[in-house]
Amino acid sequence: MPPEPSPAELAVLTIFVTSVCNARCETCFFWDSLNHPRDEMTLDEWAKVAETVPPVRGLQLSGGEPTLDADLVDKAMLFIHRPETSISLPTNGIRTDQVVTQVGALTSCFPQNRVIVGVSIDGPAEMHDQIRGVKDNFAKAMRTLDQLRDLQRERPNLRLTTLTCLMEKNAAAMPDLLRGFADSGRVDFVTVEPLREQTPVDGLRAPSHETLKSIQDLALELNIRLLAERYPEEMPSIVSHLDELYGIQQRMRIRGVLDLDCQAGAATGVLEANGTVRLCELLEPVGNVRDFDHDWNAVWHSEPARRQREHILTRACSCTHCVNVGQSIAFDAEAEARRRETERQLAARAAAKS
Ligand SMILES: C[S@@+](CC[C@H](N)C(=O)[O-])C[C@H]1O[C@@H](n2cnc3c(N)ncnc32)[C@H](O)[C@@H]1O
Ligand code: SF4
Repeated sequence: MPPEPSPAELAVLTIFVTSVCNARCETCFFWDSLNHPRDEMTLDEWAKVAETVPPVRGLQLSGGEPTLDADLVDKAMLFIHRPETSISLPTNGIRTDQVVTQVGALTSCFPQNRVIVGVSIDGPAEMHDQIRGVKDNFAKAMRTLDQLRDLQRERPNLRLTTLTCLMEKNAAAMPDLLRGFADSGRVDFVTVEPLREQTPVDGLRAPSHETLKSIQDLALELNIRLLAERYPEEMPSIVSHLDELYGIQQRMRIRGVLDLDCQAGAATGVLEANGTVRLCELLEPVGNVRDFDHDWNAVWHSEPARRQREHILTRACSCTHCVNVGQSIAFDAEAEARRRETERQLAARAAAKS
C-alpha cells in the first residue's frame, strides 16, 4: 500500500514534555507512564523528531507536570515557527515560582503567540487536595494563579483558565466553586471536562448527562460574562467553541458514541517524552520514534497507525476528550455550521449590549 501523504499541518500536537510529576491524582489517565525520567528523550532527540513533524497550529505542552521540565521552552521552540500557533500549558500549579518562571519565559519567548495556561482545579480546597494527593495543593494553586495574574499585566498574550475534571464525586461542589472563580477575578474563563474513566483508582465515575449539562451550561454563562469584561473580541469564538464541544460531550454521554468523525490521528497527534507516538492519548501507542531514527512520519504512517485510524473512523470510541473532539468540530460541516451560528449570535448580543 502506498504511504499516505503527510498532512500539511496538525491542528494540535500534544507533547508530553516530561513524565515526571509531583502529584498523585486519583483521576490521572497517564498514571502508569508517570515518573520514568531515565527513559526520556534528550533535547537533541527531540530536535531530530521535530524536524520531521509537520507545522502545528496548536501546541499542547503536557505531561507529567510540564513546568518541572528544565527544557520546556527549548522543546516548545522546536515546534513553534509562526505567530498563529497557540500554546496551551496545563499545570497542577503546585510549585508557584517554577510555574511563573516557565510561563514568563514562554510568554516572552513567543510574544506573538497566544499562551493559554490552565491551572487544574478539581474541587474546593479539601476535596482538591485529596483528589490530587498533595497537601495544600489548592492553596498553592491559588497563589500560582494570583502571581500569573500579576504577570499577565505585562504579558498581553497570556490567558488564564481553570481546568476541572468533572465526576460524580465533585459535581455537587461545582456550582459554588465555578461561581467563586468567576467572582474572584483570578481567571479569564473556566473549563469543565468530564472524567474519562481510565483512572488509577476504582469507583470514580463520569457525571450523568444531566449533571454534565447543568455544570457546563453554568460554565458557558460565566464565560460569556468573564470574557466580555476582559477580552470581548475573543468571547464569541471561545464560547462558541466550548458550547459546541460541550454539546457533543453531552450527547456522547447519552448515546455512548460520538456524533462526528474524530480527527485523532488525522489532525491531532501525541508525542511522549520517551518517544512513544499515539494518535490519541487514550489509545494504544502506534510506535516509538526511537525505533525509526526519530522520524515522526515513519511512525505516523506505519501499519499500526493505519489500522488504528481505521478503528477511529468506525466511531467505536466512547470518548469525550476535549482536544480531539474540540479539534474535530472544524472538520465536520454540521458541527462547524452550528458553532459559527452560535458565534454570530454571541457577537450580535455583545454588540447590542455595548
Ligand atoms: C494529565 S494532566 C498534565 C498536566 C498537569 N500535570 C495537570 O495536572 O494539570 C492534564 C489535564 O488532564 C486532566 N485529567 C487527568 N486525568 C483525567 C481523566 N481521567 N479524565 C479527564 N481529564 C483528566 C487533569 O486534570 C489535567 O487538567
Ligand atoms: S498533576 Fe497532572 S500529570 Fe500529575 S498526576 Fe495529576 S493529572 Fe496526572
